[in-house]
Amino acid sequence: MIGAGLIGLAIAFELAERGATVRVYDRGEPARAASWAGAGMLAPYTERVADEVLLDFCAASLREYPPFVDRVRAAGGMDPRLRLDGVVHAAFNQADLERLQHGARELVAREVATEILDRASLLSVEPWLGSQVAGGVIVSGEGCVDNRRLGRALVSACQTRGVLVERSSAMHVECNERRVLGVHTDLGFVAAGAIVNAGGAWASQLQGIPPSCVPPIVPIKGEMLALGAPVDFVRHATWVPGAYLVPRDDGRLLVGATVESAGFDERVTARGVHELLHAALSSAPSLGSFAVTESWAGLRPGTPDGLPFLGPTPIAGLFLACGHYRNGILLAPATARALADAIENKIGPELQSFSIERRTEESSPSRITRM
Ligand code: GLY
Repeated sequence: MIGAGLIGLAIAFELAERGATVRVYDRGEPARAASWAGAGMLAPYTERVADEVLLDFCAASLREYPPFVDRVRAAGGMDPRLRLDGVVHAAFNQADLERLQHGARELVAREVATEILDRASLLSVEPWLGSQVAGGVIVSGEGCVDNRRLGRALVSACQTRGVLVERSSAMHVECNERRVLGVHTDLGFVAAGAIVNAGGAWASQLQGIPPSCVPPIVPIKGEMLALGAPVDFVRHATWVPGAYLVPRDDGRLLVGATVESAGFDERVTARGVHELLHAALSSAPSLGSFAVTESWAGLRPGTPDGLPFLGPTPIAGLFLACGHYRNGILLAPATARALADAIENKIGPELQSFSIERRTEESSPSRITRM
């Protein structure tokens, strides 16, 4: 496995539970890139994933989250704090409210449990939203996981199942014209029957891969910050215009996230912080008295058509699990299951749309719109 983010670790864990011998290599600390930087939102309908096949895959992964977390907790002894108690959307004017209500009716028609909340009901759910709020919607089965805890839980679960998680400053895949042979790391050559490129925003930089198997991944920067708020001040992951707020049970209130093509720049900028605070405080001035306790940036792995690259490549034994863009944390369970199936040669139609064979030069990295 190349890449010790949540995707790489989840696949490694799944394979190890199925009896495989697995090693994971990463240039950095496990689960410290986008896996650490995200807010852990599990919200395919809120994210309005436009591609129907990807939406189905996201929905499957959301359903798979509770048993996945149970297995990780049982193996590693650490609770990643999964909460599927709904994602709230708040509107502050009539036009936005009607747009939310229209989106909610569409979700109900798809049998996605969604409730329209009038102003009073919304304020009883989230009193901090304050006097300007017009009403909103709650998408009931969505939620969030503490992605930093999930990273640590997965490392522990992997180690318990015998997975070696190692750092290597460089990784170079060796393959002939037909199949992979292994990978060169700082610790020497390791022969492998299967190699998975789960390199996140850096997946296109993996050395030794023929051009036909290099995924066209682009980094899409996201800046975030945390406020120190009383526990339960904000009760649900909540979207307000221009920002989302995700409460953690240690009192941190995450505010995210900017979306920017800035190469591999991971600086927190004045503009990014301003954008987030402006959006959050315009909707909820009551947040203004809280301390800013943390700020950070991460790189989402974007793709030209907004779809991930998952499954086999023209080189036998070389697999891709990258390009999850805004949904990497959500897609960890389904990706782990589907990739483990593919490696075991049990390939169904599920991954067809995500094949490297579809490579496209379309320019937009996103087919995702907000609700
Ligand atoms: N999934 C939320 C984000 O990428 O900002």
